[in-house]
Formats: sequence, structure tokens, C-alpha cells
Amino acid sequence: MFEARNGVLHIEDVDFREIVRATGTPVYVTSRMLLEENIQTYRTHFGWARLLYAVKANNNLALMRIFARAGFGADVFSAGELYLALLAGFDRNYVLFNGNSKSDEEIEFGVRTGVRFSVDSIDELYTISEIASSLGRTVRIAFRVNPDISPETHPKIATGLRTSKFGIPSEEIFEAYRLALELPAVEPVGVHCHIGSQITDTSPFVEELEKMFEIAKRLEEMGVSLEFLDMGGGFGIDYEGDGRAEVGRFASALRPIYERGVAELKSRPELWIEPGRSLVANTTVLITKVNSVKRAYKNFVAVDAGFNLLLRPAMYDAYHRVAVANKFGLEGEEVYTVVGPICESGDVLAKDRKLPRVEKGDYIVVFDAGAYGFAMSSQYNGRPRCAEVLVDGSSFRVIREKEGFGDLISKQVIPEDLL
Ligand code: LLP
Repeated sequence: MFEARNGVLHIEDVDFREIVRATGTPVYVTSRMLLEENIQTYRTHFGWARLLYAVKANNNLALMRIFARAGFGADVFSAGELYLALLAGFDRNYVLFNGNSKSDEEIEFGVRTGVRFSVDSIDELYTISEIASSLGRTVRIAFRVNPDISPETHPKIATGLRTSKFGIPSEEIFEAYRLALELPAVEPVGVHCHIGSQITDTSPFVEELEKMFEIAKRLEEMGVSLEFLDMGGGFGIDYEGDGRAEVGRFASALRPIYERGVAELKSRPELWIEPGRSLVANTTVLITKVNSVKRAYKNFVAVDAGFNLLLRPAMYDAYHRVAVANKFGLEGEEVYTVVGPICESGDVLAKDRKLPRVEKGDYIVVFDAGAYGFAMSSQYNGRPRCAEVLVDGSSFRVIREKEGFGDLISKQVIPEDLL
């Protein structure tokens, strides 16, 4: 879907320069065809499970609507994400409200919408029970269990370690369910877990699901009837290769565990998964313009997007493939480091990459930017956020307008005495 035609990057059938003419740079560009392809891949391999889209990866409403229409549920991590998910049209029966630190206001909002909750602590359980009782509602909940699993990934995105802030330790989880059975207005119907993100090995997921079934068995003995086991997201993609996730490999590792496990349970819970990255990362590129090329101790290519728009390299030392969009497919000639416009030396998008000769006015394309790209952007250094575009065949639409200076001041107030 990202092809070179006469040395120029095309997204589906659109010449990237047409998009740049319409929106300027930087700009995030998504291929609808790739998105639909990813959805189809999940349907093919995980047709036996329920799919929830992890909204945190990319909360653009147009993309969310495609997932909602395809029958996905949604994993949301804040009242704001819940609001967006409902607006996008996700079926609220399959929206799971996650979060390790929900405010009372967020809980009240969630209870009113009727979605299910993943409960991260006993404190939260009491709060939900109180708020739901006062509103005359019953909330279906799962507890998030901390499974004490150490997957191979960046430490900042491993979430199921004993020492991580998420979930209730497995030793204490039964006490939590016992309490939930006693309290009014909460009905425990599921178990939730998430071990981390960008995990490419299948074995930590297998270990996780096995642990979840052990827990589920004991829960049934306690009288909990389970509707779902949600094992979270985290399937990693190939950032160094084609940006795809080997969804089939994860599915075939997990299916036998699920089938064996569920056969031993009376309530036959569904398996829920919450992928984010593996659905959206490879669908989207960030196109950024070269402001200057500097030959110093290193060859620096300074572009107009930095960690304000794509935080992953600075935050996790993440690798994203880059290329020169207007010399696409040409042989690499020189080694360059692509840096952004932010006032910190950590603002490096790509280190030591062999690229065709780069000059001022060229365009750099950063691949696999659809997950945790725009979603983690900021206005740091007084930079308005850029536009987002959705390509569909030979046409494209702006799906988020770029910000202007007005957006930098829209919520600021100068007190009278400072005027
Ligand atoms: N479910 C829960 C409860 C999660 O916390 C997450 C991600 C997901 C699902 C989706 O995981 P995925 O399939 O996308 O791996 N900003 C980081 C990633 C943070 C992931 C946090 N949780 C990055 O750019 O690598």
C-alpha cells in the first residue's frame, strides 16, 4: 500500500505530494485498505474470540468508526476514551472501561453509560459499588489480575510484572471476587489481564492464558459465573520488517489453551483480546519535510516533526523505518540521523540510517506510526499538532484538521492585572 511510482511514494493510489499540497507538513496518513486488511487478518485467525480495539493506540474517530462498524468492541482507559468510543458507535456491551486510577467522576460517567468495568483495586470496587447503588444500576465487572509475568519488551511497557502498578496480585484476587459477590450493585462476570505491549514471543501469552484459566476454575468453585476472560492486548509487530504482526502465530498458540481450558469450565466464558498496535501501527505513516541538512560530526537531517508528534523513539528508543518520500525506492548513499525541531538532544526520530542523498525540501516518511503516534502527541515548544488524512483508493480525506496558533491559546487566560 506504500509504493514507489517513478521514485515517488504513493499511499494506495495517491501521490503523497497531493496530500502535502492540501495539508502541509507534517501530516499523518492512513491507508484504509491496510486497516481493512488488518481487520480481516484478525477475523480470519481470531474468529473464535471477541475482538476489542484498544482505543489508546489511535483515537481518531474515523478510524474508530471503521472498527465499530466491523463489529469490534473497545478497550478504553479513561472517561475521555469512553466518550470517544461511544461517539464512534462501539456496542457498549463490549466496551471495557479499564484504568488503574479512575476518578469518582469517571466512574460515575462509566456507570451511567452501562459499560463493563475492569476493576484495578479493592478501593475502586467499593467506589463502583457505592456509586452504582446510588444510581440504582448494576455494573458488570472483571478484576484486573496482576499475573507476575515478565515478557521481553521495553520495561516501560511491561505491565504484568509483580512490581508494576496494574492489577491485583493473583494471591489476593479470590478475596476481591468474594467481596464483589457480597457487595451490592456489582456483578463479577469476567477476569481481565494485560501483560504488556510489543511482545513478539507467544510464550508469555500462553503462560498468561493458562494462569487465567487456573483462576477461572477457582472462581467457578466460589460461585462466580464467567462471561469472559480478557487477556488484553500486546501482540507485537515487526518494526524492522514490514510492520505486520504475525496474528496467525499468536492465534494458533492460544487456541488450544483456550479450548482445553474452557472445556473444564461450566460457564464457558468467551475469550476477549484487546489489540491496539497490531491493528493500526502499519496502516499509517508520518510525512515530514526537511528543513535543513547539516554535515557536522554526524550528518543531520532536520525535519519539521519531532517527539512532539512521534514520541516513541525518544521515549522507548523505538525503531521506525524511514525513507525519503520523493526519492522512494532509490539506493541508500549516505548515513543520516533524522532529528526533529524540538529543543532537546533526545529529539531523534531515526539514528544512523542509510538514505539516498538528502537535501533541504525533501520529505522523510516515517513508517508504522499509526499506533501511539498522534495519540501521544503534544504541543511542546509551541507547536500546533498536525493534520491526519485517510486514503481510500485514489482519493483522500482530512480526518483531523491541523491545529493553528489559536489552539495554543484556546484554554489559556491572562488575569486582568497582567493585561
Ligand atoms: N489493553 C490494555 C489494558 C493496555 O494497557 C494496552 C496497552 C492494550 C490493551 C493494547 O496493547 P497493544 O495491542 O497496543 O500492544 N505507548 C507505548 C505502548 C503502551 C501500551 C499500553 N497499553 C508504545 O508506543 O509502545
